[in-house]
Amino acid sequence: MSQLFNFRVFFLLTVAMLAGCGEVEDTRPGQPVKHRQVAFKEIVKTFEPMGVMLRKEEYKADKFLTMAEALLAKRDGPWAYFGADTNYPPTKATAEVWKQPDAFEKDKQAFIAATDALLVAAQSKDKAQVEKAYDAVHDACKTCHKQFKER
Ligand code: HEC
Repeated sequence: MSQLFNFRVFFLLTVAMLAGCGEVEDTRPGQPVKHRQVAFKEIVKTFEPMGVMLRKEEYKADKFLTMAEALLAKRDGPWAYFGADTNYPPTKATAEVWKQPDAFEKDKQAFIAATDALLVAAQSKDKAQVEKAYDAVHDACKTCHKQFKER
């Protein structure tokens, strides 16, 4: 195989990989799409470890409470960035967000309420309550994503 051939294959693979990842930059002023996506990633960073802890049967009440507090600190991050006219690439939001603002708001409020309940459960330090409340938050994420996020 020639060097040139190798280089071409490498180049094409790289381009294909970048395209496959949907690496579109948000170039609009204020980058609202980018900001909300980063904010969701911050949410998942606090949420994921809670699930890992519960699934591994390693519930540590104090540590869980710290994680629940971290989730509450991040839960309000994305919402202000869903302004009118912010449905453009690289968004993964569906058009429903802007067509059904009341339903989107309702799912958001349900999520806020579920995270409030998770904090209360975490403060109780009762594992059964914590698991129930964690599942309810998980359901709130899923309910909203089903209608409002592309998969
Ligand atoms: C009220 C609706 C709603 C709720 C509740 C919600 N999300 Fe989302 N989420 C969205 C929408 C809409 C997007 C797409 C945002 C975009 O790309 O513009 C999204 C995107 C994401 C992303 C992808 C970010 C990226 O670009 O890679 C992650 C991860 C995510 N959400 C995690 C969660 C988790 C975890 C929860 C619950 C703890 C949650 N979301 C709750 C609506 C919601």
